Amino acid sequence: MGLEALERITQQIKRNLQDSSQRNHENLQKLNERGQRQTSYKCDKCRDTGWILVPQENRQPLALSCECREIEKLKDEWTYSGINVEQSKHTFSNFEVWNQASCRIKDTAAAYCTNFDEIRNDRRNSILLCGQVGSGKTHCSIAIALNFLKQRIKVVYMPYRDVITKIKQNMIDQEYYSKVIAKYQTCEVLLIDDLFKGKINDSDINILFEIINYRYLNFLPIIVSSEFSIDRLLSFDEGVGSRVYEMAKDYVVEIEKDARNNYRLK
Ligand SMILES: Nc1ncnc2c1ncn2[C@@H]1O[C@H](COP(=O)(O)OP(=O)(O)OP(=O)(O)O)[C@@H](O)[C@H]1O
Ligand SMILES: [Mg+2]
Ligand SMILES: [Zn+2]
Repeated sequence: MGLEALERITQQIKRNLQDSSQRNHENLQKLNERGQRQTSYKCDKCRDTGWILVPQENRQPLALSCECREIEKLKDEWTYSGINVEQSKHTFSNFEVWNQASCRIKDTAAAYCTNFDEIRNDRRNSILLCGQVGSGKTHCSIAIALNFLKQRIKVVYMPYRDVITKIKQNMIDQEYYSKVIAKYQTCEVLLIDDLFKGKINDSDINILFEIINYRYLNFLPIIVSSEFSIDRLLSFDEGVGSRVYEMAKDYVVEIEKDARNNYRLK
């Protein structure tokens, strides 16, 4: 064999060795990444599998759906309603205290979050932010909900007018009706945004009463925002209004109707 041929073969062997060492390096890196991933789970309870296995005597373990799946499903629902739970700007830290009204809203909402664990099973376990348009009622209601979702408290978002309209459009579908009503009746916490917005008739009141009365009877908390004063809320329907008021009595903020309290006009 000539010298030239020998040189070619030597170079080829070197290249092969380099390639395989590069492959080994990449494989090792992948393994490390996998190892790291395994030590930091989003959910430690199910290790991101979505299932919790409960050992059974003389039987296959029971597979229970993990709570984190429900939270993820719920977050998808929020996204569907136009609120990105992870990136929403409606947080407490983005809520400026710029006048007396914003100070009252923020303090009350923050106190509600702090005390929630203690009061959640009480008669007065809810919060009502009502009055002046643009004063930050929705902003703070969502801030409370985001806070709860972080603690895995399952808050369902109910944009009042959209939801009521959709329920009424599908009223003849009994199965749909019962399913939707049950969702708002039984969820852990319900956020009703913009209560009594738009034209109201008897069927709006009936739907709302079914939801509110169930939550009232079962001591299930509500977070309510509405542009109306307490008196107006009571005048629409005393049955609904007085239940909401009683549930939220310890955390009611009524913002005086005054354009100076409208952040949008600031
Ligand atoms: N104190 C505040 N600091 C920062 N942003 C605020 C504040 N108050 C209101 N905003 C912002 O102003 C806009 C209007 O607020 P929001 O929607 O919460 O008002 P609202 O009281 O719910 O009004 P409406 O009665 O029309 O529903 C939002 O974009 C909100 O983020
Ligand atoms: Mg609002
Ligand atoms: Zn889980």
